[in-house]
Amino acid sequence: MKKKLIAGNWKMNGSLAANDALVRALRDGIGQPGCDVAVAVPAPYLAQLQSLVADSPIALAAQDVSVHESGAYTGEVSASMLKDFAVRYTLVGHSERRQYHGETDATIAIKAQRALSVGITPIVCVGETLAERDAGQTEAVVKRQLAAVIHLNGHCISEIVVAYEPVWAIGTGRTASPEQAQQVHAVLRAQLAAATSHADRIPLLYGGSMNAANVAQLLAQPDIDGGLVGGASLKASDFLQIIAAAQ
Ligand code: PGA
Repeated sequence: MKKKLIAGNWKMNGSLAANDALVRALRDGIGQPGCDVAVAVPAPYLAQLQSLVADSPIALAAQDVSVHESGAYTGEVSASMLKDFAVRYTLVGHSERRQYHGETDATIAIKAQRALSVGITPIVCVGETLAERDAGQTEAVVKRQLAAVIHLNGHCISEIVVAYEPVWAIGTGRTASPEQAQQVHAVLRAQLAAATSHADRIPLLYGGSMNAANVAQLLAQPDIDGGLVGGASLKASDFLQIIAAAQ
């Protein structure tokens, strides 16, 4: 059976002192996890995290990557810079970037390509808003978002991770039911299967108010291969319980 992946998304939270305490507590409690584990941290802390997670089962992830390779792009962080800090994954197209920073499907596809080109695995986030769900557009929206990445990245597509995060479930305490999540994951799996014969090995994560209480039911679904965890990744005991449920 393929290993599940649990990725924490710290968003714009943390400090040198808080990161140190959180990662030490994770290291103390994690043992030999039966799943893959990553934490996506703010860019200024990559160097700190690189040393904090060294020789541990915790992989380092970034939250975003530039569409540009290098040059006059003030404030941007390139894929090769992430690579310098042994970053293993980067989120691309998180709904907060789509919503607050105007990221389009086309931009996100290029970001995924930049990550892949340096050997970093993009975690491509897709998901519908509440208005889109209510209008019956969930399937069309997530398929359009994923199609942009599949189209641009062609043969590399089996090297990505996909995270389904319904926007209405992020940070709201309102989780998609396991059946709702599975329904969308099945759609995404079928779309990937049409693009690559390796669709089965692409981890499909669920994200949106995942916590210690709902993780087991979500991960019991046939097409849910792990989780992208926001709020609950900031407390070591919560995150460790989620990791333990993903064995
Ligand atoms: P949440 O965030 O777990 O706090 O809902 C998930 C995410 O945005 O990745």
